[in-house]
Amino acid sequence: RKPKIAVVGSLNMDLVLTMGRMPRMGETLQGDSIHYISGGKGANQAVGCARLGADVGMIGAVGGDAFGAQILARMSGFGVDTAAIAELKDAATGTATILHTEGDNCIVIVPGANGRCTPDMIEAHRAVIAGADALIVQLEIPLPAVETALRIAREADVRTIINPAPAAALTDEQIALGDYFTPNETEFDYYCGSPAANEDELFARMRAWRERHPRQTLIVTRGKHGISCLAPDGGEPVTVPAPIVDVVDTTGAGDAFNAALCYGLAAGWPLEDTLPLAVKAASRSVTVFGAQDGMPTMAELG
Ligand code: RIB
Ligand code: NA
Repeated sequence: RKPKIAVVGSLNMDLVLTMGRMPRMGETLQGDSIHYISGGKGANQAVGCARLGADVGMIGAVGGDAFGAQILARMSGFGVDTAAIAELKDAATGTATILHTEGDNCIVIVPGANGRCTPDMIEAHRAVIAGADALIVQLEIPLPAVETALRIAREADVRTIINPAPAAALTDEQIALGDYFTPNETEFDYYCGSPAANEDELFARMRAWRERHPRQTLIVTRGKHGISCLAPDGGEPVTVPAPIVDVVDTTGAGDAFNAALCYGLAAGWPLEDTLPLAVKAASRSVTVFGAQDGMPTMAELG
């Protein structure tokens, strides 16, 4: 049978504006193009899991506007079960306005309906979580809703991944609700209180993290350097390097990694098989424009 995955999180319309350089404060700049692309970390991860072949149910919210309807249609097109996604008539669908230059991106997120996800809305769809093999959450919806989802999973003995993106103040108790914790380097710096100076310091911090969260597997995603993982078993950090690829658009690379990690977890694969596959998924995703279109299928991962 297909692995069953529950995703609780955000859905955004990404407004991707491409320009030669970033505007300066007070400046009016002419851009090259605008694309309207379904995004949001939750939705991207849901699509990533579905593309790999999982049975995916998502809990979240869109507004009662045209963006919301477009996003839901696209998610269904990718095979994600959208029955537990609320359409809030009096809210705007979340947007991420992405200023995209060759060098780097600047992103402004307006949460809209995502910001209206409540614990009650999650509770109402408890069965989606309790019936899954794995749950993945991110932090683009209010933390009480995230925590509710994680608690339902714990009670039902469902494996959990917390992708703490964007970084937000979680209590130690909330962090401990994740079997896996998958910050990127910037987010891990946030949880450690300052930037790590080099790899040795990163590894030292990962070991210190394990002291505080001894039952959790910590995976720090490191962009073109791949990922580093520290499991609860007492071993050392393991790094899986990323292949060198032609980068078109890094938006959603972390989501591609997390989706593949969640797939492997739901399928019951050993971590040492899942990690290289998840790194490969992320690397492939950056070669395609847009967050969801770059999510690979299992066949594309070879
Ligand atoms: O992780 C990428 C996503 O972050 C984008 O799709 C955008 O919506 C932001 O939420
Ligand atoms: Na991409």
